[in-house]
Amino acid sequence: MGCFAIFGVLLLCFLFETHHKTVRGNIENRGCDLFDGRWVFDDSYPLYESSECPFLENEFVCLHRPHNFYLNYRWQPNGCNLPRFNGEDLLTRLKGKSLLFVGDSFSLNQWQSLTCMIHTSLPHTKYISITKEGLSTFTFPSYDVKLIFSRNAFLVDIVSERIGRVLKLDSMEVGKFWKESDILIFNSWHWWLHTGKKQPWDFVKEGKHIYRDLDRLVMYEEALKTWAQWIDENVDPNKTKVFFQGISPDHKNGSKWGKPESITCKGQKFPISESKYQGDPHPAELKLEGVLRDMLKPVYLLNITSLSQMRKDAHPSIYTGHGGHTNDCSHWCLPGVPDTWNMLLYASLVQT
Ligand SMILES: *[C@@H]1O[C@H](CO)[C@@H](O)[C@H](O)[C@H]1NC(C)=O
Ligand SMILES: *[C@@H]1O[C@H](CO)[C@@H](O)[C@H](O)[C@H]1NC(C)=O
Ligand SMILES: *[C@@H]1O[C@H](CO)[C@@H](O)[C@H](O)[C@H]1NC(C)=O
Repeated sequence: MGCFAIFGVLLLCFLFETHHKTVRGNIENRGCDLFDGRWVFDDSYPLYESSECPFLENEFVCLHRPHNFYLNYRWQPNGCNLPRFNGEDLLTRLKGKSLLFVGDSFSLNQWQSLTCMIHTSLPHTKYISITKEGLSTFTFPSYDVKLIFSRNAFLVDIVSERIGRVLKLDSMEVGKFWKESDILIFNSWHWWLHTGKKQPWDFVKEGKHIYRDLDRLVMYEEALKTWAQWIDENVDPNKTKVFFQGISPDHKNGSKWGKPESITCKGQKFPISESKYQGDPHPAELKLEGVLRDMLKPVYLLNITSLSQMRKDAHPSIYTGHGGHTNDCSHWCLPGVPDTWNMLLYASLVQT
């Protein structure tokens, strides 16, 4: 243990020295990259059953899938083991604190996974769940711990003005309450791609310039820079720990894993083996890494993109509790892949 603590201090110093050059996101365990690994079949998984988690939203419940191998995969880093999730230990560590997820439905996916993981490991511990005005707060009163989800797809502001709904790439008024939490976990990407009816803004504004539209990756990067500046100016790293949930990949196009374009996640029974994934690095992930690299304050990247890219088998597809009208190859069944994201979050909280 002592050895490990000493290593932790050394690692921190190293990152501090080189913060302009390295992405700090590689949460390391004695030199081991937890995000570099493989999925192994392990029938002691999943960690819980969906029926044990009464507040799980229908869109993540995949009870009607005809094949359920996807439940039994465990993430195995190549150089070490992940600590097994321990809900009581996590609540004890978080005593008196609040953890806030800010982002889109992938934050919801991870927040729900975390609340289910803790509830099912401590089924007799009282919880209170309240959702109001885009904010969902899940409290464990006996530990004074709050797990909060704030729905916010772009991180920057959308304001109704005379000309219409304006997406302001350089404005982050919405972030005022973020400072109250001790652990912040951000995510943004998927909504930047929406056009037509699903696009919740009419104009984009940066500085004095107003545009009808811009390249979506460029807009994303500008918004991330605004976010990074907000973090650098407002976060005290002695009090608050900041994470960014990496880009969650979808499986709508089989050409990414050597199959015809028309193949999707529908009917997929098994993960893609690491060597078979042919997609390039995700362009949004590269933008995100670039922005994190230029920050002054430490932000830990939950580097979930590659490990999730292998899981073409783990989406709700047509089997959500909502019924079979859509083929959801973006979100993840619960229990499932976001449990692993939370095990990586847990590992990083235990180790630092
Ligand atoms: C994220 O993990 C993948 C797979 O191990 C790796 O190739 C990539 O370099 C990592 N990204 C960062 C920023 O560490
Ligand atoms: C954080 O804590 C360290 C050690 O106690 C101290 O030297 C440093 O000034 C603190 N930083 C801030 C921003 O308060
Ligand atoms: C699927 O991916 C391939 C290769 O990246 C691309 O050329 C093609 O347009 C994509 N198809 C669809 C339907 O998005």
